Amino acid sequence: MSARAWSSAKALRFSESVIREMSRICAREGGVNLAQGFPDFAAPAALKDAACAAIQSDVNQYAVTWGAPALRDAISARSAAYNGIASDPGRDITVCCGATEAMIAALLAVVDPGDEVIVFEPFYENYGPDCVLAGASPRMVRLRPPNWDFDAHELRAAFGPRTRAIVVNTPHNPTGKVFARDELGLIAQLCLEHDALAITDEIYEYMLYDGAEHVSIATLPGMAERTITISGLSKTWSATGWRIGWCIAPDTITGAIRKVHDFLTVGAPAPLQQAAAHALGFGAEYFAQLASDYRARRELLSAALQQVGLRVFEPRGAYYTMCDFSALSTLDDTAFALELVRAGGVAAVPGSSFFLDPADGRRLIRFCFAKQTQTLERAARLLRERLGAAR
Ligand SMILES: Cc1ncc(COP(=O)(O)O)c(C=O)c1O
Repeated sequence: MSARAWSSAKALRFSESVIREMSRICAREGGVNLAQGFPDFAAPAALKDAACAAIQSDVNQYAVTWGAPALRDAISARSAAYNGIASDPGRDITVCCGATEAMIAALLAVVDPGDEVIVFEPFYENYGPDCVLAGASPRMVRLRPPNWDFDAHELRAAFGPRTRAIVVNTPHNPTGKVFARDELGLIAQLCLEHDALAITDEIYEYMLYDGAEHVSIATLPGMAERTITISGLSKTWSATGWRIGWCIAPDTITGAIRKVHDFLTVGAPAPLQQAAAHALGFGAEYFAQLASDYRARRELLSAALQQVGLRVFEPRGAYYTMCDFSALSTLDDTAFALELVRAGGVAAVPGSSFFLDPADGRRLIRFCFAKQTQTLERAARLLRERLGAAR
């Protein structure tokens, strides 16, 4: 029987991650990987020391399914201080294997087949398969460059009797948009009018530039009861491989999420949860330094991309730069990205992987700047040599 015959109808509805595929091609070609969103620099020493100490003291067995108490306490304290979200660590928090698991667990917990889930497009590519796996029908609302604004009428029209939830990702991957308070206010108002939930992915919450303010929609009037706030260790603590994430939601929602999470993964790695509990207590200077280091990386990459003729849409948050490459090439985005990694030695992500209809991303490409200065400088040199010469 062919491999295709063994795929479920669900699995046939989405393809392998383009982002992770670009990383594999890049490794094969020996290129500089600005495709997948992970840092190529060390995680904080205090985080690693705490993990080593936990392993040495034999924290080896399953943690409490919904998260080690020390970590849930730390999440509750940090999200109260930074986001202004009040939570009961005993009832409102679920620790998952990354924000990735938190999102799929949340959707499986609250969505029934046929329910509609509103997603802003372009979107982080996982949300498409997440909706398929949860049986949700995605309703796309477009974010338009250069500022990635949405049209209020289009958003209003997307809400209807079948709307169960809206996925909000701020700061946003792939555009770097940081949703403004009034934009979140409109989303909140529509959630209240239509009795819908907000599922908000705030994994880049500390990476903000040019005075951008991070607002958690859970803190807007009436939203605490109907918001699932997702974050994690991966980005802020430069530890994407540790697979520690979490979601905060009222106990009426958390009960369902915890059940789904239990049967999906049982729990996140126990010793790494202990280390995460320690790291969540880092002082304000850690988070300020993180943002300022990322600001410098953003500037280095933006200048290099502009120099070779890409149209840069400057991100206000997160660690990606979305560009329009129309002035450089008539190739489609996938062919351009493949040529860039094969002939140019720099891997990036084709824009089509962030849209339901690939045609909508044909002129776009995304670069990640979560890299050491020397990596970004090497990428800049390669881009200048290979692309600059082609102009
Ligand atoms: C918007 C967004 N959410 C979630 C994730 C994954 O987070 P985690 O490593 O915690 O699963 C990413 C990673 O790129 C992301 O960009």
